[in-house]
Amino acid sequence: MGLSWKLLVLQLFMGCLSEGSGPLRPVFTKQPGSIVFPLHLNEPSREVTFSCEAQGHPPPSYRWKMNDSFIYPQPGSRYSISGGNLRISQLNKEEDAGVYQCLASNSFGTILSREASLHIAYLEEFKTKRRSPVSVREGQGVVLLCGPPAHMGELTFSWIFNEYPSFVKQDMRRFVSQKTGNLYIAKVEPSDVGNYTCVVTNTVTQSRVQGPPTSLVLRNDGIMGEYEPKIEVQFPEVLAVAKGLTVKLECFALGNPVPAITWRRPDEVPFPRKVDVGKSSGVLEIPYFQQEDAGQYECTAENSRGKNTVKGRLSFYASPHLVEKPQDVQKAIDESLLWECKASAKPKPSYRWLKNGEPLESFEDRIQVVNGALSISSLTLSDTGMYQCIAENRHGRVFANAELKVIAVAPDFSSSVLKAQTLARQGGDVLIECRPRMSPRGMISWRKGKEALRESHSLAKRWGSEP
Ligand SMILES: *[C@@H]1O[C@H](CO)[C@@H](O)[C@H](O)[C@H]1NC(C)=O
Ligand SMILES: *[C@@H]1O[C@H](CO)[C@@H](O)[C@H](O)[C@H]1NC(C)=O
Repeated sequence: MGLSWKLLVLQLFMGCLSEGSGPLRPVFTKQPGSIVFPLHLNEPSREVTFSCEAQGHPPPSYRWKMNDSFIYPQPGSRYSISGGNLRISQLNKEEDAGVYQCLASNSFGTILSREASLHIAYLEEFKTKRRSPVSVREGQGVVLLCGPPAHMGELTFSWIFNEYPSFVKQDMRRFVSQKTGNLYIAKVEPSDVGNYTCVVTNTVTQSRVQGPPTSLVLRNDGIMGEYEPKIEVQFPEVLAVAKGLTVKLECFALGNPVPAITWRRPDEVPFPRKVDVGKSSGVLEIPYFQQEDAGQYECTAENSRGKNTVKGRLSFYASPHLVEKPQDVQKAIDESLLWECKASAKPKPSYRWLKNGEPLESFEDRIQVVNGALSISSLTLSDTGMYQCIAENRHGRVFANAELKVIAVAPDFSSSVLKAQTLARQGGDVLIECRPRMSPRGMISWRKGKEALRESHSLAKRWGSEP
């Protein structure tokens, strides 16, 4: 006996469906990059511009943050925002160095750009004008201090001996530390007597300043006898080195006879070929630092009177780099969302999420962040927005952006048409499935002919749109 059922949907919840062509929510087309501004102390024009541009409809508006606080560009202030770009004029090395971020918003959401830092490089003049003479015995070791002036940006050091352009030549006996600028003479000879001037160069601003000269004089109360090496320049006990960087370890000793410097790794791991040990005894240079370069390093200074050793450990770190990031997605009401976010980093990164540029608060159980992955169950229209995953460790931060669109769908049978005919056995059971696509869930009711079937015996069911 054939049963023919007719179906009517009596009741539905309708939502507003917003569909458009092309991107509606803001998408960055230009994000700010870090800037190192060379500040020349007597140059009047001092301004920088951070760029930021996003597409969207309606066109996005822009705001900027500096060190996590909003910037309010008032007329006449040093800040101005045009398009998305932020211009800062009359740069000030105390107030403006920091981390900048652009926010682009329209009615569909807000996105937060990557972080861009502003470093202001400068080098002031030496404040001291005179230095008292240093007197040593022949055969003794000596250290002449440089004491560089206030600065920002990497410095390099050299020493003038007596008159420019005669520079101190570095060898087994004489060493200029590129960390402190100090000049070390392992064992003084009569020819070392004269005036020494420290020359400091800022590699960013290319500016150069000279310290006051220090004169080295010999004492006439005898010659210093032989003694064992005394290590005066040593590298840090623990040093964290970023992946890919070149690290230079310094080690130098005073002593009579002039000590020889040698380098080794205590675990007897040979130096890789990229390390040129023979280049300069006082500096061990490890280019393109990698995980396998981490570990102990040892420097030994030795002469006929004895030897001394210093040790230090290099550790490897890497700022986060995204390996898995969320993609834009469109979901129906009541569906659930799972977004993976993974970054490689050393030490391991931590993760957090932003929604429309604000920290994602998960007061509700349905919103969870586990190991970086964000899951939201029972989506509602208000979950729609721009989401950003941030992976960070103490060495850096990366952002990944994605949009979640939660939509409402009117009931639609096109993907699961009700069977026109179902055969059933007399006395048997029959199941006729009714699975329209709709969001949010609606009411389903059945009719047989003209007669409405009551909601009993599970005939009228509520269906979710999709699992
Ligand atoms: C901004 O933060 C950096 C460190 O992240 C700090 O060095 C700088 O002084 C801060 N700038 C201001 C103006 O507070
Ligand atoms: C060192 O400087 C002093 C004072 O400026 C000067 O009298 C002396 O001649 C200088 N010595 C040498 C070797 O240039």
